Amino acid sequence: MFLKPGGLFLSINKIGDLTKSTSSAQKVVVCLGRSCRKYQSERVFANFQENLPSNVELVSVMCLGQCGNGPMVVIEPEQVWYYQVHPDEVSTAIEQHLIGKSPVKAMLYPKFHD
Ligand code: FES
Repeated sequence: MFLKPGGLFLSINKIGDLTKSTSSAQKVVVCLGRSCRKYQSERVFANFQENLPSNVELVSVMCLGQCGNGPMVVIEPEQVWYYQVHPDEVSTAIEQHLIGKSPVKAMLYPKFHD
């Protein structure tokens, strides 16, 4: 069974119970689950936290169902998935995607983005 990113994310919201905001504002979701933490997702989260534009919300979840491909980051509401995000790539994601409104092609998760 193929799960669309949107459907998967909705189920994660219910499980993680960390993203209950009903706002349509832009949101950065960073996985801080065990698998992603092995690859520095806590530093990824911290880098977003330090440099996030004021109109963007930052939340964490404990798993995005993509273990082994992390750190995983999802940008809502457009549901852009980034994988293997290195802490040094956070500034690019902020500048190009959150501010420039253009997803970073080199960071896109190929499972959900062709
Ligand atoms: S722990 Fe991050 S996707 Fe599962």
